[in-house]
Amino acid sequence: MKIIVAVDKNWAIGKNGDLLLRIDEDLKRFREITIGNVIILGRKTLETFPNKKPLVDRINIIVTRNSVYKNEKAVVCKSIEEAVEESKKYVDKDTFVVGGGQIYNQMIDMCDTAIVTKIDYDFENADTFIMNFDESEDWYISEMSDIFYQQNIPFRYITYKRK
Ligand SMILES: NC(=O)c1ccc[n+]([C@@H]2O[C@H](COP(=O)([O-])OP(=O)(O)OC[C@H]3O[C@@H](n4cnc5c(N)ncnc54)[C@H](OP(=O)(O)O)[C@@H]3O)[C@@H](O)[C@H]2O)c1
Repeated sequence: MKIIVAVDKNWAIGKNGDLLLRIDEDLKRFREITIGNVIILGRKTLETFPNKKPLVDRINIIVTRNSVYKNEKAVVCKSIEEAVEESKKYVDKDTFVVGGGQIYNQMIDMCDTAIVTKIDYDFENADTFIMNFDESEDWYISEMSDIFYQQNIPFRYITYKRK
């Protein structure tokens, strides 16, 4: 399994239930990478998607503890373990953990690759964070892109692999 995430300098990923910054190129890249595959997400992250709907052309696995929660366009699971078991049914697809904070932090240990968009900016009052991969002894950088800009804010794509 792989994590795909956009972080700021402090490994913040969100604020007030939304992304810190919408990077057009990054959203396009996210689509290209995840299309046709399985994505695992928390119930709160679903609510950040356009019209709060599952993403098209992907198997959306939503994790919630709410036993009456239903979504016709997604698979709903009551635990992380159930979500992982469900993802294994799609043997010809890759599985991406797409957030948010609660789900990333519970699933990082199950992943071998992290596809990170690193935004070189300190967003004030961010309220959701993930583990700092640069400070972890378990991960190394396997790929790093050039620097790109969104509204003068620099960012780059970095792939981390588990040692
Ligand atoms: N920067 C990025 O790449 C990125 C990507 C995705 C999201 N985000 C941001 O992250 C923030 C949302 O993250 P979040 O941490 O608040 O929420 P989240 O991880 O998206 O969802 C949390 C919800 O998932 C369910 N859940 C969590 N652990 C569970 C478990 N072990 N078993 C069953 N259900 C479980 C619960 O749903 P119920 O309450 O329904 O039980 C919980 O309230 C937003 O700001 C969003 O914009 C950023």
